[in-house]
Amino acid sequence: MTLLVKGGTVIGPTGTQRADVLVQGEKIVALLDPAFSGTITPDEIIDAAGKYVIPGGIDAHTHMELPFGGTAASDTFDTGTRAAAYGGTTTIIDFAVQKTGEVVQDGLAAWHAKAEGNCHVDYAFHMILGGVDDESLKAMDQLVGEGITSFKLFMAYPGVFYSDDGQILRAMQTARENGAMIMMHAENGIAIDVLVQQALARGETGPIHHGITRPAALETEATSRAIALAEVARDCPLYIVHLSASGALESVAQARDAGRNVFAETCPQYLYLTLEDQLGAPGFEGAKWVCSTPLRSKHESHAKDLWKGLRSNDLAIVSTDHCPFCMKDQKELGLGDFSKIPNGIGGVEHRVDLIYQGVVDGQLSLERWVETIATTPARMFGLYPQKGIIAPGSDADLVVYDPNGRTRISVDTHHMNMDYSAYEGVEIQGRVGTVLSRGEVIVADGNYHGRKGRGRYLRRGLSSYLV
Ligand code: URP
Ligand code: ZN
Ligand code: ZN
Ligand code: ZN
Repeated sequence: MTLLVKGGTVIGPTGTQRADVLVQGEKIVALLDPAFSGTITPDEIIDAAGKYVIPGGIDAHTHMELPFGGTAASDTFDTGTRAAAYGGTTTIIDFAVQKTGEVVQDGLAAWHAKAEGNCHVDYAFHMILGGVDDESLKAMDQLVGEGITSFKLFMAYPGVFYSDDGQILRAMQTARENGAMIMMHAENGIAIDVLVQQALARGETGPIHHGITRPAALETEATSRAIALAEVARDCPLYIVHLSASGALESVAQARDAGRNVFAETCPQYLYLTLEDQLGAPGFEGAKWVCSTPLRSKHESHAKDLWKGLRSNDLAIVSTDHCPFCMKDQKELGLGDFSKIPNGIGGVEHRVDLIYQGVVDGQLSLERWVETIATTPARMFGLYPQKGIIAPGSDADLVVYDPNGRTRISVDTHHMNMDYSAYEGVEIQGRVGTVLSRGEVIVADGNYHGRKGRGRYLRRGLSSYLV
């Protein structure tokens, strides 16, 4: 079976070209000069005239079915990966969880059981370490051999996922030896918990206090501390997740300028949404945007600095941190006490569009759009060149993107299992058209042609970025 994506403009991290993409089975076999491709007769032609052809999006940070705060993220691997496909994302890297006290391999097995047979697009795992001890350090070595080459630790959430500095240092030393990446949730959770208790004691119980009690300074401090610990661990590779604060970005930029193995991602919510306008919405409405790190103040320069960081590569990747909870029965657990609102925002369906809007708005080039949503995630997390690039030999994960189309984001039309949209009413000046996953058309003209269980587990290699 051969298929030709014809007449489009192919975008890669290093440039843009008029080319037709020839697919055979699951793989891209050639990029053809349009003047030449008329001489071949494929089984199927997809018309991409006037459209961009980009590699399928890779969302390197999702939490399907994550247990959190007495409930669980509302998207399953079924609903969440289907929504991802609709939005042009053809690979996710989800976080398997070792709960505190659990054997790492048992946590991983539980995650495989949730995902296997349920995914619509390809998937891989990072591993959250809920406890660092001799056993879990040994497990890190084993998992690297099994294609799980990155481990997330938390400087936040004392009593839940939290690791202290000694534990973090030990995990970093282990990663430096076995080639894995340490991913860090960088917020000073011990100090935050003091602020949270003080706020509640003053009767400050509404959603905005979630943001006020997690000040940018405590993200900056934790980020700097993580960078220092990684330096002590002989420059262990470090990846800061969901970076939201200008100060944290400055710390990352400084480390990078010094040639360190330090990387970071941000998420669309920090580029578009704010403490005042969303988290500070009247009544309990702000609960929709409770996530950690929190949305930042529009009166400071965070969002502007994050866009700049994406341009300069101090921010390498845009992931969603997709962790949806419905308002009803889930976010509502925190009525009268913001600290009980489950943390997370859903957005796996909209990342490709939201960052394309950055191109329209003059924030990013087309090439940088593709790089931050597909190519760099693949390289950073050991999926390249199977994923993240339109090149012969790579998986035929392709998105035909229409720059003349329009997308209006709404709960009424999205496919995520959420009873609200964090981006309700936002208009994107572009639209996901046809989506191919390993050569199979899974979305066309807004209609779904994929199926549950077709997504495959991906064993990852080591990061391509490490020196
Ligand atoms: O609020 C968030 N980010 N929830 C998901 C868990 C995490 O810390 O990434
Ligand atoms: Zn986190
Ligand atoms: Zn720099
Ligand atoms: Zn997360």
